[in-house]
Amino acid sequence: MPLDISPFQARRARLLATMQAAGGGVAIIPTAPERLRNRDTSYAYRFDSYFYYLTAFREPEAVLVLVAGDAPRSILFCRTKDMEREIWDGYRFGPDAAREAFGFDEARPIAELDEQLGLLLANQPAIFHSVGYEPEWDRRVADALNRVRAQARTGCHAPGQIRDVRSLIDEMRLVKDAAEIATMRRAADISAGAHRRAMRSARPGAFEYEVEAELIHEFRRHGSQAPAYTSIVASGPGACVLHYIENDRQMQDGELLLIDAGCELDGYASDITRSFPVNGRFSGPQKAVYELVLAAQAAAIAEIRPGASWNAGHDAATRVLTQGFIDLGLIKGSLDDAIESGSYRQFYMHRTGHWLGLDVHDAGEYKLAGEWRTLAAGNVLTVEPGAYIRPADGVPEAFWNIGIRIEDDALVTDTGCDIITIATPKSVADIEAVMAGR
Ligand code: GLY
Ligand code: MN
Ligand code: MN
Repeated sequence: MPLDISPFQARRARLLATMQAAGGGVAIIPTAPERLRNRDTSYAYRFDSYFYYLTAFREPEAVLVLVAGDAPRSILFCRTKDMEREIWDGYRFGPDAAREAFGFDEARPIAELDEQLGLLLANQPAIFHSVGYEPEWDRRVADALNRVRAQARTGCHAPGQIRDVRSLIDEMRLVKDAAEIATMRRAADISAGAHRRAMRSARPGAFEYEVEAELIHEFRRHGSQAPAYTSIVASGPGACVLHYIENDRQMQDGELLLIDAGCELDGYASDITRSFPVNGRFSGPQKAVYELVLAAQAAAIAEIRPGASWNAGHDAATRVLTQGFIDLGLIKGSLDDAIESGSYRQFYMHRTGHWLGLDVHDAGEYKLAGEWRTLAAGNVLTVEPGAYIRPADGVPEAFWNIGIRIEDDALVTDTGCDIITIATPKSVADIEAVMAGR
């Protein structure tokens, strides 16, 4: 299917309009550098999310420049055609084909960037730049600014302000457009299938990495370029280690397996966690904690609708979990006391979700002027309560090493939310049925 560039052009036009409304100026948005893994071998290349959001262009060594004003312009700086390099590294568009394919007003060789910035920044009121993220780009932008200042005697003036371009793009990225939602739904479907496959492949005696391999195979065979983040495949005690990524343990009968894994598709992340018994049948204590986390997730999901506070879901999940910890004898005191003192944090120590999009922990503020922001249609967020019960004095042994997180991805709709990861088995009955079919 040919790439539809119209959403990317529309985003450039919106950003240009926002810049113009803020007084005008020039935005400089570079993509990510290639990074060495060891000696002369690079990591698989991943473009910068901000750059990709506005361009759809996936090559390294590229910079988008947007010039706001009465005649707004988008200019791509990119690598030139190079037959020798293309024999070794593969096709590159070159400026002419890139301008045509991606709908820029102009495209130029990347080697011309510094010189062109000197011209483009003259007599502009502001530079919009990712201030403070990449020292090399801070220096390069300062150098460009100084080149314009050096021409003062010719009568031109240099931009008087450097403004953070990311904060403008963050607000745009928070509300997904139709193209983004379509991609995120496909990513979610692929990841849901991978979790179903993981449930079918887990068994006592197998190693965590065998299950991880099933996930990766399922991602790739559906066209996902990579996992959106390092998969967590954590059995037994590992399920209580929030960022466990070793994935090298042999799974034992009677243990739980927590899998936090999601694919990236065309730049967009999915993020799903499921926790299930390695042998396919929940024990009594495992089921009790699982049902509690599931109820907490349902309470959080019920709070997701336009106009609701970002934090309402976390508060709802925390109350359900805390009452459950009291009922299970894990903590003492009243619900309000336990919330007030934070004693529930022994078993639930993270927040209930985050924005999701091009980055797994996506761009966008959570508070505005000190207040939790409210949800809007088009936001995508995760809902991921959990309970992690490590061996400890005063904790009944029956619960030791039960680590459970249940994580889905929610799209805020006009009336509530749509769980786009719904195809991932979640109830005890559904999980046991999938695993019974192994
Ligand atoms: N997988 C990362 C997260 O759940 O936040
Ligand atoms: Mn998450
Ligand atoms: Mn996750």
